[in-house]
Amino acid sequence: MKKKKIALIPGDGIGPEVISEGVKVLKAIEQVDANLSFEFTEYPWGCEYYLEHGKMMDENGLDQLKDTDAIYLGAVGYPGVPDHISLWDLLLKIRKGFDQYVNLRPVTLLNPSLTPLKNKTEKEIDFLVIRENSEGEYAGAGDWLFKGKPEEVVLQTGVFSRKGTERIIRYAFEEARKQKKTLTSISKANALNYSMVFWDEVFDEVGKEYPDVVTYSYLVDAASMFFVQQPERFEIVVTSNLFGDILTDIGAAITGGMGLATGANINPEREFPSMFEPVHGSAPDISGKGLANPIAAIWSVAQMMEFFGEEKWSELIVTTIKELLEENEHLTPDLGGNATTEELGNQFIKLLTGQDAITY
Ligand code: NAD
Ligand code: IPM
Ligand code: MN
Repeated sequence: MKKKKIALIPGDGIGPEVISEGVKVLKAIEQVDANLSFEFTEYPWGCEYYLEHGKMMDENGLDQLKDTDAIYLGAVGYPGVPDHISLWDLLLKIRKGFDQYVNLRPVTLLNPSLTPLKNKTEKEIDFLVIRENSEGEYAGAGDWLFKGKPEEVVLQTGVFSRKGTERIIRYAFEEARKQKKTLTSISKANALNYSMVFWDEVFDEVGKEYPDVVTYSYLVDAASMFFVQQPERFEIVVTSNLFGDILTDIGAAITGGMGLATGANINPEREFPSMFEPVHGSAPDISGKGLANPIAAIWSVAQMMEFFGEEKWSELIVTTIKELLEENEHLTPDLGGNATTEELGNQFIKLLTGQDAITY
């Protein structure tokens, strides 16, 4: 029997609404699978916690999390707490503190009706974005000089270390080799004359070790266009932290919206826990109304199962999401339906387990 410790950080806004549907999926799995069990610990960290305690998480928060097998996070950030505080003190602190330098964000069309692109099907929209997740434009380095004075200057420094750049590019080459797919690097060396020139050099250097992998290299502006016009160009993509952030929202848009996009924050060495979360944020515009689509959060459970070596479950979850979309009932308003978050979640459990209700 495999026992996995899972830390739950539902967070803010729709975070708790979608995470509770994902937790139902985990509980259904352990009921059906005699070889798997989960031990959950929930952490109340987030913006409400900040307003009460003056901090987003406990000072020793990373210590509290470090022995878990996975972190399952909803979303962080809510009006009332400045975003750069809430995100840097919780989400980014975990990604960096646990050296989750690989961010795996699939851009996979699960049902042809979901894409706003004309004449594109599941065959044309099916790729994986591997986003650098620990440094780059998100190094958090900079300065604010002469604040409020006419000569005010603000610096936001990108940091691209040899170690950080090489390891993400190498990870992407390994993945491309393993999956027998092409690899596309997305950068911007024409304007970013230090960081991206370096990125491109490292991509070429590491690429020499992988002569079997067919590579492409695009500038990020052109790549944004190709994401929309010709997504079939891409199989595996590797890119920097900020470009990966922006490009994967485009990825979400071409596959049906933010309610469907998942991301895994991986520490490949497994020295620290990895974290699974939807790509979307706390969606203050729809929170508290049962309108949030929990599919992204449920797909995150599939990524977690894959990370645990439970491919059978990860595949079954994705197949069941497809089945639910195919059925075209019980969908949330973002997908044109009128089901609530919970109703969609319940239908998912029904399709996954064949049971009307699971008793927890
Ligand atoms: P957002 O992703 O929260 O919302 C963007 C749009 O997508 C909104 O219209 C929202 O209603 C819709 N949407 C998002 N998720 C949805 C879902 N599951 N179902 C249906 N519709 C959904 O982005 P934002 O509005 O720019 O940011 C809101 C807050 O979340 C900010 O504080 C931001 O910093 C934070 N944020 C956090 C994360 C994270 O924790 N990983 C990610 C992105 C944004
Ligand atoms: C994401 C989010 C975060 C990011 C923000 C909230 C810091 O947009 O996970 O995509 O930029 O990484
Ligand atoms: Mn983002």
